[in-house]
Amino acid sequence: MNIDTLLTTTRSVRRKLDLDRPVEPELLAECLRTAQQAPFAGAFVESFRWLVVTDQETKEQLAHLIRAGGEKSQAEYGHLVSPRTLASGRHLLAVLERIPVYVIACMHGRPGGDNATQTAFYGSAYPAVWSLQLALRARGLGSTIIGYHLGEHESDTARILGIPDDVTQVAMLAIGYTTTDKFHPAPRPPLAEITYYNRWGATEQPVVSS
Ligand SMILES: Cc1cc2nc3c(=O)[nH]c(=O)nc-3n(C[C@H](O)[C@H](O)[C@H](O)COP(=O)(O)O)c2cc1C
Repeated sequence: MNIDTLLTTTRSVRRKLDLDRPVEPELLAECLRTAQQAPFAGAFVESFRWLVVTDQETKEQLAHLIRAGGEKSQAEYGHLVSPRTLASGRHLLAVLERIPVYVIACMHGRPGGDNATQTAFYGSAYPAVWSLQLALRARGLGSTIIGYHLGEHESDTARILGIPDDVTQVAMLAIGYTTTDKFHPAPRPPLAEITYYNRWGATEQPVVSS
């Protein structure tokens, strides 16, 4: 797949996950290894961990917490997303127990300090999360980030998974093969509306003479 196609068509997949097809552990490991090549802030290079969950009983326990957080979040903030995204989120909540694999990206420690420190902390996990989503897509799998449970149920989730108190769950991914390969670029604001040049608010692109 062309790299720009990969970058522009890797969507959050919820309704088109194949819930009946298992994900081969070796294939997932290949994707995780690839994603490890993502950038980290230097001080945090040793802090990152993946936690892979495939055990059915554990997934059922997680589903309970995610659903509780998700229903609350959708009731409070559902009006802020498109009806399509909300319907997709609701579908996800309905099938949580059947998701083939969950992967949780964790960081040792708790974010604190100023913006630079917090940015370095979370920013050392998200490039790897996105790289994992791309690596999966390149192999016919799809994923979506789930953050619903992190508001009120992070510690309950930690208890189920044996995650120590000083480890932060940054993002959970629901993963499976996709039932289609037809994914398209999503609507986004025009570049000219969100890009400034040399000064905040200046939308006119400077002419560069060669
Ligand atoms: C930090 C972050 C948290 C997210 N949390 C959730 C979530 O809890 N549930 C969910 O269904 N999608 C979640 N998503 C996925 C977004 O809903 C998704 O990216 C958005 O609908 C745009 O769709 P697209 O990724 O296909 O462009 C999250 C994405 C990010 C980056």
